[in-house]
Amino acid sequence: MPESSVAPQHTKPGVADPLFVRACRSEAIERTPIWIMRQAGRYLPEYRALRERYDFLTSCRTPELACEITLQPVRRLGVDAAILFSDILVPLPGMGVDVAFNPGPQLARTIRSADDVRRLRVPDPAESTGYVLDAIRLLRRELAGTVPLIGFAGAPLTMAAYLVEGGATKSFEAFKRLLFGAPATAEALLRVCTETVAAYLSAQVEAGAQAAMLFDTWAGQFGPRDVEATVLPRVRDVVDAVRRAAVARGVPDLPIIYYAGEAAGWLSACRTTGADVIGVDWRIGLDAARASLGEGVALQGNLDPGILLGEPTIIRREAARVIAEAGGGPGRGPARGHIFNLGHGILPSTPPDHAKLLVDTVRELTEVTR
Ligand code: CP3
Repeated sequence: MPESSVAPQHTKPGVADPLFVRACRSEAIERTPIWIMRQAGRYLPEYRALRERYDFLTSCRTPELACEITLQPVRRLGVDAAILFSDILVPLPGMGVDVAFNPGPQLARTIRSADDVRRLRVPDPAESTGYVLDAIRLLRRELAGTVPLIGFAGAPLTMAAYLVEGGATKSFEAFKRLLFGAPATAEALLRVCTETVAAYLSAQVEAGAQAAMLFDTWAGQFGPRDVEATVLPRVRDVVDAVRRAAVARGVPDLPIIYYAGEAAGWLSACRTTGADVIGVDWRIGLDAARASLGEGVALQGNLDPGILLGEPTIIRREAARVIAEAGGGPGRGPARGHIFNLGHGILPSTPPDHAKLLVDTVRELTEVTR
């Protein structure tokens, strides 16, 4: 099939944009869309079956495998968006730092000095992560306009934190030592991460991603002053770059989503990123999140992933609560500017039936019936 025949849905006259895309733009919708962070992954038996034959990085680096894994939750759950199967640390080898997953990330070296930073490269996305762009092109063909495809990257601060810490941490001691002890070096590192992420996510949009999401998992380790001075300006730079790429592709209103973990204490500052959608975790109610952020931005979230380990009655009750806090529900229909999601990634021990129950419940509780 020629490439040009997979025109983005947005450009087809008379065809409405996908529900998820319209919700991201805070347009009127017929029901609340839902997708699940980390929806492709270990809680799915079909994912585990593939992973018995292929390791995680091979799965990310083989477009046919990444495509198949991306589609697994779309088929099983009937979610309203697909998210590319990959990882936020996939661009690291191109920067000059190899990474292994066991299953948590382990970097081959850490970046802690000015010399370390100087040796990092801003990779050309087509050269170092061409397989991601190929997976996106393949997915657009496979999805054939059924549900939109979300591309993603780690936000600059979260990427920088991994580069300095070299893997999982609770205290972020090495990263904070660099940030507050050698600010010029930290600044240089953040600049490399910003340029890398901006180019990488823009390339995904150019390849056909219909929404772009930035994961800032570790931003909540910082207080409001540092967030406003150091974290969010970099996010703004990436958002601006991705927006330019979207304009060049003829999709000026391509949704951009910013998710920061544990950000309840400074949620209102997220407005400064220019993102269309703010991802919210469960440490704040969506009513309070709305009051904090104001109108004109969509909210994505925010069920505690732990709820999906619970009993069906509790899952239904808590889904209804999240929908109500966003301003929707039976009799009211979908709340404008709400995309249902978990507040963080789905847990590996979640029964797949519980995820399916959640998707069906959100549909049932928000569908406008005539
Ligand atoms: O949402 C999706 O379905 C797309 C796939 C996706 C993965 N990672 C697959 C993955 C996405 C969007 C990510 C993002 C990601 N990766 C984040 C940001 C979101 C978040 O959860 O905060 C972060 C911090 C990472 C880094 C990372 N990768 C960690 C901490 C881990 C190990 C933790 C874990 O879940 O075990 C990974 C590995 C990883 N990334 C797996 C998957 C499915 C597990 C690898 C395996 O199958 O063995």
